Amino acid sequence: MRRLTVPKIRARKQDGVTAEPLVMLTAYTARQAQLLDEHCDLLLVGDSLGQVIYGLPSTIPVTMEMMANHGAAVVRGSYHAVVVIDMPFGYYEASPQQAFESAALLLKQTGAAAVKLEGGEAMAETVAFLNQRGIPVMGHVGLTPQAVNVLGGYGARGRTDSEAGKILSDAKALDNAGAFAIVVEGVVEPIAIDVTKSVACPTIGIGASALCDGQVLVTEDMLGMFERVPRFVKRYEDIAGIIQKTVTRYAEEVRNRSFPGEEQTYQPKD
Ligand code: KIV
Ligand code: NA
Repeated sequence: MRRLTVPKIRARKQDGVTAEPLVMLTAYTARQAQLLDEHCDLLLVGDSLGQVIYGLPSTIPVTMEMMANHGAAVVRGSYHAVVVIDMPFGYYEASPQQAFESAALLLKQTGAAAVKLEGGEAMAETVAFLNQRGIPVMGHVGLTPQAVNVLGGYGARGRTDSEAGKILSDAKALDNAGAFAIVVEGVVEPIAIDVTKSVACPTIGIGASALCDGQVLVTEDMLGMFERVPRFVKRYEDIAGIIQKTVTRYAEEVRNRSFPGEEQTYQPKD
């Protein structure tokens, strides 16, 4: 099976209609990518790896090196899904030129097909600049975690008319600039639906609406690796609980010397 392409993802929305919603999950490691790949249209190497993998307090401290290392691992572990890499905070906002240099480096070092960046109207020129130079861009509007210090927290966006209007104009600007898809995060449902109807490219919702053209979640969140998750996360499993139970058994067996057993030990040949 050949890997999906960015134009194929973009073409899943035709004349405002997406028959089959796009499936996207985050991946940070090769093994995780292997497990998710056949089920997903897109794998996102999210800068959420800052919190999920590195225990950082936000995505602000995430570096290019982190994104490149995890991005390369995810590309090595997948053969079907389109791999998209987040541009980390501080390496793209200053100018289209800065963004191109960072994005080109990420694609060269990882083999990913596209980058994602946060911001709307302010990033439209950059989106067009990259797209015209061979780098497809996924946009990200609404709750944009890299702007936490401006937004003041991770609460839902679009509750006031001015916020709602800004989210809509941001999404339209990205769409007109040539973004191939737009993540719509943490916005009240009517705005997510409005955005989805107003842009030609697919919207990918997270804390948005089932009527978006696709959905994304942080894999560790939906698997139940964390006790505390945002309201918009559905915990499909309790992987943390499974790990706790499993490690409890291992620790007991080490302490009472029932592990390793006969099957796990080598004996001299007779
Ligand atoms: O970093 C990330 O995981 C993301 C998704 C949640 C959209 O940007
Ligand atoms: Na992100």
